[in-house]
Amino acid sequence: MVQIFLDSANLQEIEEALSWGVISGLTTNPSLMSRESEPFELLVKKICSLMDGYPVSVEVLSTSADEMVREARHLVSLASNITVKIPMGIDGLKAVYRLNQGKEKILCNVTLVFSLNQALLAARAGAAYVSPFIGRLDDIGWDGVALVREMVELFSRQRIVGTRIIAASIRHPRHVHEVAVAGAHIATVPFSVLKQMTRHPLTDIGVERFLSDWANTRREEKIAP
Ligand code: E4P
Repeated sequence: MVQIFLDSANLQEIEEALSWGVISGLTTNPSLMSRESEPFELLVKKICSLMDGYPVSVEVLSTSADEMVREARHLVSLASNITVKIPMGIDGLKAVYRLNQGKEKILCNVTLVFSLNQALLAARAGAAYVSPFIGRLDDIGWDGVALVREMVELFSRQRIVGTRIIAASIRHPRHVHEVAVAGAHIATVPFSVLKQMTRHPLTDIGVERFLSDWANTRREEKIAP
């Protein structure tokens, strides 16, 4: 079954989403982290403790492979459930490859993926996750969901099993619907979209009608203790 991750760095949103019992992981990025007021490392620790037992992607800010590797090692020392998010590119691939070696095996999520070739390279380098950004592709007139569909097909045809596809940059519930049908392993969803996913106008009308039918005819009957 497709997993739902929350795409957020906000502690209240995380706590609320966890209480619904529907999320299996979390992704952050520097833009999301920059909107919060807590110091970076304290925030990472608080997020990871709330998300206890679930993977939390935290992105490096470095741009060279050596620095990314150093930063990744530091990040994973902050909490045991951290997956290091590494931007796609030559330095990113080198870092993922090195972090995946030997006993160290730090899990990496290759982010900012916009093509099948980038996804393929990330998988070859040893990424545990690859994140195609579908909303940003739609923004420039491409078809983000089509990329996810192609990735799912390629990964299954080529038996690429060590890398999971996280459909990211999700803008509305229809995106979640389509990537789930396409076979993405995970959809990472902003809290606003997660809330939208619970709603349907017919559900609201249905609840209202049930309650008013009951109130109009059997109002006096007590059913709760
Ligand atoms: C995913 O890991 C990213 O944090 C996120 O989905 C980016 O989404 P955006 O394009 O809305 O910034």
